[in-house]
Amino acid sequence: SCSFSIGDTAQEKGLPYVPQRYVVSPSNRSSLNPEKAQVPTIDMARLRQNDDEIRSMAIKELGDICRHGGFFQVVNHGICQSILDEALSVASGFFNLPTEEKMKLSSNDVYKPVRYGTSLKDGVDEVQFWRVFLKHYAYPLDAWIDSWPENPLDYREKMGKYSTEVRKLAMELMRKITKSLGLGPNYLGQKMEDGMQVMAVNCYPPCPEPDIALGLPPHSDYTCLTIVLQNAPGLEILDTNDHGQWKLVPDYRGALQVHIGDHFEVLSNGLCKSVVHRAILNSERTRISIASLHSLGMDDKVGPAEELVDDEQHPKKYKESSFRDFLDFLAANDIGATKISFIES
Ligand code: SIN
Ligand code: FE2
Repeated sequence: SCSFSIGDTAQEKGLPYVPQRYVVSPSNRSSLNPEKAQVPTIDMARLRQNDDEIRSMAIKELGDICRHGGFFQVVNHGICQSILDEALSVASGFFNLPTEEKMKLSSNDVYKPVRYGTSLKDGVDEVQFWRVFLKHYAYPLDAWIDSWPENPLDYREKMGKYSTEVRKLAMELMRKITKSLGLGPNYLGQKMEDGMQVMAVNCYPPCPEPDIALGLPPHSDYTCLTIVLQNAPGLEILDTNDHGQWKLVPDYRGALQVHIGDHFEVLSNGLCKSVVHRAILNSERTRISIASLHSLGMDDKVGPAEELVDDEQHPKKYKESSFRDFLDFLAANDIGATKISFIES
């Protein structure tokens, strides 16, 4: 289990109830027995097929998934199970460190390339979330790895390996997705090659009343796509194909969960929608998730692809924005907004 480090938190004391400051409004509460999401599967072996027919069918399926729902799980991705397990294990090792050690990386500054924290921002947030996290930039790895945690001793090696592998997978998927949207596999070109990767490593300790608090509030990610690795279920997606029901993403060992972020919604001029998701809690075990966030460069503006815009039927729906614009927005606003609204024109 992980101990909390900012403030004198209830989790540290092992209280049998949830303190008031973590209690979310009734409409935001989760079910103790949530409906399971039907998560479509993308088989990388089919997307990588030499056979043109099988490959184009797989790409068409991927395009359909992106236009209807925007989340899927990836199997046959080729990343060894040991690399996945070791990334989760060093993440857990980090959160098990003494508070003083973790606090060395603590910061509320959203511009920091490495930071440890809780959702508590200088005590201004009305509701707090039952989570601690470590976020660090991961690409180019050489530029950032020396600022990652020194402990556990194999953190850098193991998390570095996973980061490298998952980035390759993300780029491959991004190429296939732009292709499936009719933009071609090299549409993002060098901007994608130079794009950012941020690892958001999350720890959700067991919660005595898991239905009245949340690990993360509903949000979409400001990314092209996000790939989630988890050691237990807890990720929920808002199923827009089913009246906006919250559904729990089942935890299939070895599979990686992918969801479309705001950048692809913007680039596709709304053909794809970014996935609204949240993290729910359980009373039994500590849940660890590692979200690998992939976007373009810090100052690369993303707007709707001209190819998908026309004045008559498909007017431009979004403003251009960069990752830095998003951080500026985050720094100035309370996190917890459902979808980032500053990009809608
Ligand atoms: C989680 O599964 O813990 C949340 C990941 C995310 O918000 O991307
Ligand atoms: Fe997210």
